[in-house]
Amino acid sequence: MAKTRMQKVKGDRYYGKMAADYEAVRTKQPWWTIEQDEMKNLLAGLPRDLSVVDIPFGTGRFVPYYLERGYDVFGLDASKDMIGSAQELLGVEFDKCTTTTGLSHELPYEDGQFDLLVSTRFLRDIILYRDVKKTLAEFARVTRKFAILQLGVKLTEPYVIPPDDERMGSRMSVDQTRDMLSEYGFKEIDARKVKDVADKTSEIRHILCERV
Ligand SMILES: C[S@@+](CC[C@H](N)C(=O)[O-])C[C@H]1O[C@@H](n2cnc3c(N)ncnc32)[C@H](O)[C@@H]1O
Repeated sequence: MAKTRMQKVKGDRYYGKMAADYEAVRTKQPWWTIEQDEMKNLLAGLPRDLSVVDIPFGTGRFVPYYLERGYDVFGLDASKDMIGSAQELLGVEFDKCTTTTGLSHELPYEDGQFDLLVSTRFLRDIILYRDVKKTLAEFARVTRKFAILQLGVKLTEPYVIPPDDERMGSRMSVDQTRDMLSEYGFKEIDARKVKDVADKTSEIRHILCERV
């Protein structure tokens, strides 16, 4: 009998204690700081005073950087508890953001509403590949200039396009990843490693893309 390859979806766990403890637990991971630093570095190369949407918003970890750069900040997350944690952690900075609950593959925004879309710790690890594809189409619809997308890439063969009912992980080569992004109108213009994975046979990157 054929084996089912369906994996448990991780995205529905971010409520209650998991949401309350999210940042306290994650900030102890060494790569959290690297993600923060590399996000700041990539943002430094972009114009000031952009409108940005961060999906999923989580605890709003990059909000201080957005505000420093004069950005108009929007955030969407499936979990109202994560947005509640963001409010608690960010205090007055949260009041400068427009947040909403919703799903990444059916965004409640206008076409081209934002200059920049940011998405970390999500496409690679949380949703299934079939939803990644729908989400990338939505991301491309709502951002008119830039996106910073966190994705995994494989550096040594074999390279694999993930099945629709699995999470992406770091299985596609750099070229396969670029081809996938280009299908949705994203062109890579910079990339920063934020984590080595599996004995450096793969890694996780923040990929800065232009809309084309
Ligand atoms: C690992 S956290 C990442 C949060 C943040 N971007 C970060 O880098 O810390 C994953 C987040 O995805 C949210 N989420 C899960 N499924 C979602 C979906 N389909 N649409 C929008 N948000 C979703 C969860 O509520 C959670 O806040």
